[in-house]
Amino acid sequence: MSKAQATSADSAPSHNQLDTKAQAWSALFSEPMSDLVKRYTSSVFFDKRLWQADIAGSLAHAEMLAAQGIISAEDHASIQRGMAQITQEIESGAFEWKLDLEDVHLNIEARLTQLVGDAGKRLHTGRSRNDQVATDVRLWLRGEIDLIGDLLKELQVSLVNVAEQNVEVILPGFTHLQVAQPVSFGHHMLAYVEMFKRDAERMADVRRRTNVLPLGSAALAGTTYPLDRERVAKTLGMVDANGTPVVCQNSLDAVSDRDFAIEFTAAASLCMVHVSRLSEELIIWMSQNFGFIKIADRFTTGSSIMPQKKNPDVPELARGKTGRVVGHLMGLITLMKGQPLAYNKDNQEDKEPLFDTVDTLKDTLRIFAEMVGGQLNPATGQKEGGITVNPQAMEQAALKGYATATDLADYLVKKGLPFRDAHETVAHAVKAAATHACDLSELPLTVLQSFHPQIEKDVYECLSLRGSLNARNTLGGTAPAQVHAQLARHRTRLA
Ligand code: ARG
Repeated sequence: MSKAQATSADSAPSHNQLDTKAQAWSALFSEPMSDLVKRYTSSVFFDKRLWQADIAGSLAHAEMLAAQGIISAEDHASIQRGMAQITQEIESGAFEWKLDLEDVHLNIEARLTQLVGDAGKRLHTGRSRNDQVATDVRLWLRGEIDLIGDLLKELQVSLVNVAEQNVEVILPGFTHLQVAQPVSFGHHMLAYVEMFKRDAERMADVRRRTNVLPLGSAALAGTTYPLDRERVAKTLGMVDANGTPVVCQNSLDAVSDRDFAIEFTAAASLCMVHVSRLSEELIIWMSQNFGFIKIADRFTTGSSIMPQKKNPDVPELARGKTGRVVGHLMGLITLMKGQPLAYNKDNQEDKEPLFDTVDTLKDTLRIFAEMVGGQLNPATGQKEGGITVNPQAMEQAALKGYATATDLADYLVKKGLPFRDAHETVAHAVKAAATHACDLSELPLTVLQSFHPQIEKDVYECLSLRGSLNARNTLGGTAPAQVHAQLARHRTRLA
């Protein structure tokens, strides 16, 4: 630190001014804020989480102010030096966050001014907390969306791995939770891969609209200084696919828009809904009545009273937390309703729901990727401890509900019967099988022929689970050939 800087910092009165601002903002105020109001309006204990984005935004702004000749190169250097120290202090836990300084922005600015004097006071030239906070939230969320993208990919890879190992495993496919038709368990897993693929696409789309620069809008109307907003956008990586800077085009909209956050929470809600549907299935499948799968013990808990219990707490909690995230979406969208242009303090309420949505989604995706696909064993390079499948239980269940009845109808249609007539004929056959408490495939040929004379010996092939599965060989169908094709498509996409 140079002597001149040290002197200016040491003699700076401004930190004290900011420090006591909560008592009275400026000469305009005749009485200090009450303690209750201070607590009510302060956001620092949750928005301090934005500190890295706040410093990055300030540094980009200061660099541009210097490049435009609005502040001196020395002031710019002092700001950089001060911010480097603040970064260290925050990282080491030495930084003293003050409730009196209301939010992350004022806390950092006050400390900067304490450290570097007037240069710190010049940082806010051509800027307002209104465009500052909008920028911070966007920068922060952009980073989180990238992490969520990675986690969504991991979860998809887990599901694809399970799918690959279970292409030939047959379980009853359900509609109305009634046995419908046999499906491949691999096919079933890939249904979720499709959902999470769309979730990842939605996130990428939200990222595009999030990664736009509000700074330079100042309080609401723009500013009188000759700012270079595109330069700031470039510095902050707020650029499109071609590297062109992307800047909010209307200052009023820039400081008041939170729809990027609402959109994100909507995309997160949908993603959680998909997790919740998977949770519901895992819970059902691992109940004693189904016994289709097991999840590793570390994702379950016991009961304090019933010694035999192993409860699927993780999927249950994920299902529960889905309600919480959907609730945040409702909170955020309602927050915007009725706000006149431009910035209103209501917007400070965007942070907790947004932060909690990000935390909940990230934790959930991480835990599901591991619960489904297992954990990497560094010794073998293999993932271990994912869900365990019980193919016998699945096939047994598929044999119970006349899952191949449609196949018998299709068989008759191929013999020339109109589908509606075939449907009716098979209904009689199912009724007979139910009376004998057996499957369609267990009815003797003579009995089957009593429903229709054209039924021949080859009918048994189509009445078998495997025959039924193999026959559904249309694009997107459950036949193993189709499932393998889809697996290859996903593998390429996720590589
Ligand atoms: N903490 C505030 C927020 O989160 C920062 C913006 C404050 N602006 C203002 N004009 N009071 O929205």
